[in-house]
Amino acid sequence: MNKKRIFSGIQPSGNLHLGNYLGAIKNWVKLQDEYDSIFCVVDLHAITVPQDPERLRRQTLDVAKVYLASGIDPEKCSLFIQSHISEHAELAWMLNTIAKMQDLLKMSQFVDKAMKGFDGRRGVLKKKIEGQIINREVLFEEETEQYLIYKTGVGLFDYPVLMAADILLYDTELVPVGKDQVQHIELTRTLANRFNKKFGDTFVIPKPYTTEVGQNIMGLDDPTKKMSKSAASEYNYIALTDDKETVKRKIKKAVTDSGSEIIYSNDKPALKNLINIYSLLSDIPAKEIEKRYKGKGYADFKTDLADIVVSFIRPFQEKLKEYDDEKVLEILRAGAEKVRPLAKKKLDEVKKRIGFII
Ligand code: AMP
Ligand code: TRP
Repeated sequence: MNKKRIFSGIQPSGNLHLGNYLGAIKNWVKLQDEYDSIFCVVDLHAITVPQDPERLRRQTLDVAKVYLASGIDPEKCSLFIQSHISEHAELAWMLNTIAKMQDLLKMSQFVDKAMKGFDGRRGVLKKKIEGQIINREVLFEEETEQYLIYKTGVGLFDYPVLMAADILLYDTELVPVGKDQVQHIELTRTLANRFNKKFGDTFVIPKPYTTEVGQNIMGLDDPTKKMSKSAASEYNYIALTDDKETVKRKIKKAVTDSGSEIIYSNDKPALKNLINIYSLLSDIPAKEIEKRYKGKGYADFKTDLADIVVSFIRPFQEKLKEYDDEKVLEILRAGAEKVRPLAKKKLDEVKKRIGFII
């Protein structure tokens, strides 16, 4: 019986953190037995923001090492570097011709990145009135927003189309990701349907795969923002490479809500997030954790949480050390050779549909 296909990827930019693991990689590991799995290090996506070449090479291998140390088995899955399969970029170009500006302008990741640091303050607009340049102070958010969007790189704007190409190239049925990527998968579905309607059935329509609790791990310093490698403060995240002392320090400093009881509730978003992390790493349900800490306070809870995180991170980091660069590159190259025929077949089909001579 043919297994269903899953595909996912992570950008090699910045340190991976607990949110990446709990929101995405942990699910990949779980799904790899049941599904035909393809996992990618998406370096073409990473260059949509400036990268240092040497650092990019380093991080590409490091992300692959994280996949492996987390338990992704290269015998069961295909693991490769996106830029090794040029069909991704080619298909993205073709999908560009059916994507609309309005589809992409709706993408919140793009808007967030384009608007980074923007708080709608006043600005000075130079305006030509009757031949004279006038400096006009403005508070027109729209004018200023538009200006920020005009300045943003085309690659960043087009990022979701490349992601759609990644997914559609392999007849992917499920895409295991965190919540922030679900909108991009909706767009992938839109593009696939549009293409199929215009040129005939070509693409499988994929669905996102998220888990209720892990899909949105929030920042330790601010439970209203997601845990993110680009956060301003290192107290926002626990990096998978943090040492024991750093983990303890960060958890100790993590913000909590008012009151002192350990209660799993939407009224206590900071604590809820910490309980989620606790629960996901220990496989103990949140309600059970509540019971355990009845009559105890934040200090006890945080000490145990730090121990739980450390007992996950320690063996993980030991495993990380087992992989040297050559070994990982060998795995990645072998993975690329496994998926190359699939990518070529699908792209040829697309080219034929479009009317290219192949
Ligand atoms: P990124 O680091 O943004 O490239 O994300 C890589 C994967 O991790 C994607 O599937 C994201 O949705 C997921 N992810 C990133 N941050 C979080 C988070 N704070 N909580 C849950 N999943 C996340
Ligand atoms: N955009 C995803 C992120 O930032 C990474 C990604 C690229 C991806 N291509 C993908 C995820 C295809 C799933 C499937 O996390």
